[in-house]
Amino acid sequence: MNYNINFDFTNADAMYLTHSLHPYPAKFPPQLPKSILKKFASKGQTILDPFCGSGTTLVEARLLGYNAIGVDVNGLSSLLSKVKATPLSEQEHKSIKSFLSKIKKEISSWETKRPEIKIKKIEGIEHWFQKNVSEELTHILNLINKIDDVNVRDFFKIVVSSIIVRVSNQESDTRFAAKNKNIPNNYALKLVYDRANEYSEKIMEYSKDIIDSGFLKLLNADSRNLTMLENKSVDIIITSPPYANTYDYYLYHKFRKRWLDLDVHFAQYNEIGSRREYSSLKKPANQWTIDLKKCFAEMYRLLKKDGLAFIVIGDSVIKKELIKIDGVIQDFIPEIGFDICNIISSDLSRHSKIFNPTFAQKGKKEHLIILRK
Ligand SMILES: C[S@@+](CC[C@H](N)C(=O)[O-])C[C@H]1O[C@@H](n2cnc3c(N)ncnc32)[C@H](O)[C@@H]1O
Repeated sequence: MNYNINFDFTNADAMYLTHSLHPYPAKFPPQLPKSILKKFASKGQTILDPFCGSGTTLVEARLLGYNAIGVDVNGLSSLLSKVKATPLSEQEHKSIKSFLSKIKKEISSWETKRPEIKIKKIEGIEHWFQKNVSEELTHILNLINKIDDVNVRDFFKIVVSSIIVRVSNQESDTRFAAKNKNIPNNYALKLVYDRANEYSEKIMEYSKDIIDSGFLKLLNADSRNLTMLENKSVDIIITSPPYANTYDYYLYHKFRKRWLDLDVHFAQYNEIGSRREYSSLKKPANQWTIDLKKCFAEMYRLLKKDGLAFIVIGDSVIKKELIKIDGVIQDFIPEIGFDICNIISSDLSRHSKIFNPTFAQKGKKEHLIILRK
């Protein structure tokens, strides 16, 4: 078997079908899981992404007719992955259109006949949101929560979630600093309307391409401990764990989760590799190895014999020390039981996963590690 894969997709379109829905830091280029699946998967197989983030692997697995299981510690990720990878019926499309007409009416009467709004109680709301924005978000979510069809309701929740950072005082999706953006009246409602129109077309395009009856399963769980999944129940794993000391996924999505009534603390305390752990709590670098080992042991347990795991992971800096993660993994992998089929490394500065210049510091590489049970 040839385990060579090109994982430089710098100029590839990453926004087709549902891949463009909702911002999420450090997404896979969809061509990566797609090319792996085309080369290595076969009919009826089950694909797992234990750090599924925005659901890129799951969308590609379902498009190619495979069963897909996604796990993430972040509850928003489970909801987003579900919405992106679940096809909708024509009936559900009609319900979306009808709700859109309702939003349109709200927009045109907002200045003149605005209803009495009791703003949702959220910790920190006054610091992070203008009053007019909080009123509009509260109102639209009250309406969304009354939608009967759960898929349509989840679709609109994801639409609202997608605009939260844009209309808040949070600087950006990967910077948790306050900034005044002077959001005008009616702007949040209009943005929800425009996004919902755009996203519903994308989902209907995706839905037409899903032809078989394979399953999609999503778990909001910690991938160091996946006892709810059976031994040897997975054929292929395609995943990308966090790059240590680089992001705080739970933090960037904190207000999205508060608005949507999703739990914040589970992700805060169980996210591995977060900046909180290594820059704020100053944990030692070997904690990263301990956590990764637990995740790799679970991946090994879940894979069938000869099953393959494709893991994209980046080097990191903890307490000024460069952690070359391919070496760390090579050291502990024999203990877990995997054979290493290939490690393909590339300079981080050449990749689409870059989110700020310091991340691509000289010497840091990104690796595609291919393992066989
Ligand atoms: C690099 S992102 C994955 C992005 C994904 N490949 C995509 O295309 O959207 C890493 C993910 O790992 C998740 N994560 C961190 N700690 C976790 C844990 N203990 N168990 C499961 N997921 C975790 C984060 O919430 C984040 O969504």
